[in-house]
Amino acid sequence: MKVKKAVIPAAGLGTRFLPATKAQPKEMLPLIDRPIIQYIVEEVVESGIEDILIITGRGKRAIEDHFDCSLELEYFLREKGKEEWLREVRKIAQMANIHYVRQCEPRGLGHAVLCAQSFVGDEPFAVLLGDDIVMAEKPCLAQMLELFEEVQATVVAVERVPLKEVFRYGIISGEEIRTRVFAVHDLVEKPKPEDAPSRWGVTGRYIITPRVFSALATTRPGAGGEIQLTDALKVLAKEEKVFGYAFYGKRYDAGDKLGYLKATVELAMEREDLGPAFIEYLQTLLSERI
Ligand code: G1P
Repeated sequence: MKVKKAVIPAAGLGTRFLPATKAQPKEMLPLIDRPIIQYIVEEVVESGIEDILIITGRGKRAIEDHFDCSLELEYFLREKGKEEWLREVRKIAQMANIHYVRQCEPRGLGHAVLCAQSFVGDEPFAVLLGDDIVMAEKPCLAQMLELFEEVQATVVAVERVPLKEVFRYGIISGEEIRTRVFAVHDLVEKPKPEDAPSRWGVTGRYIITPRVFSALATTRPGAGGEIQLTDALKVLAKEEKVFGYAFYGKRYDAGDKLGYLKATVELAMEREDLGPAFIEYLQTLLSERI
């Protein structure tokens, strides 16, 4: 089967970024000149998927406005002859078929994914978490889809993480069956270092079979008192094959202040329009500090 749908959970309260997220969604914080969630939607589209469900919640309306048309803005830009901006603004509204559903209570990632059940139906689907930005020549999701086409089973993106940081991730246990591919036997959400079965942490990219919904429906609150996607995947791994895929590329945790700064700086360095001047500025700044 082909993966035709993607789900982007975006209902979290963004407490790690308060007070910036008091009155605006964390997904709308800009990385240079695009909100974080636009990078995620672009990754989905570049990977060949056009139907996207964003799980939102209270106070997230700016996300819908961002991907909607803005007739006043388009009129203004046309009047002023700003054709390039006009194209850019229109492109955002046309790039995918974006649907929305609200998660009325913040009950965890697993619960958010369960809210996608009627959109997804009985098909495999992708899940992308907005906190994880992956910079890669071939989008991380496209790399995973290639493996999915071959194995026709659940695939989770994994990355080796430092032992002292395993408590931030879902951690897999399994065996590397070939370069970059793991057969996953078990998963643990946010273990203590002494309980971690490996150092392979789940990154916020998943391709999941629809069987996960029955597992989610009976998943009880786990780590942090929330319904965890990892706990449902653990059940799935007992019933069918689950693979881990160590993707090519560099991941940033844009939901964390330091990760967000790193992503901003490195993305700016890569940009054709900003990079050269920005790098020169950084070099001068650092030489003044040393
Ligand atoms: C979530 C998942 C976790 C995963 C992580 C990746 O945690 O629950 O398994 O490793 O995303 O970013 P969160 O970062 O939302 O606490």
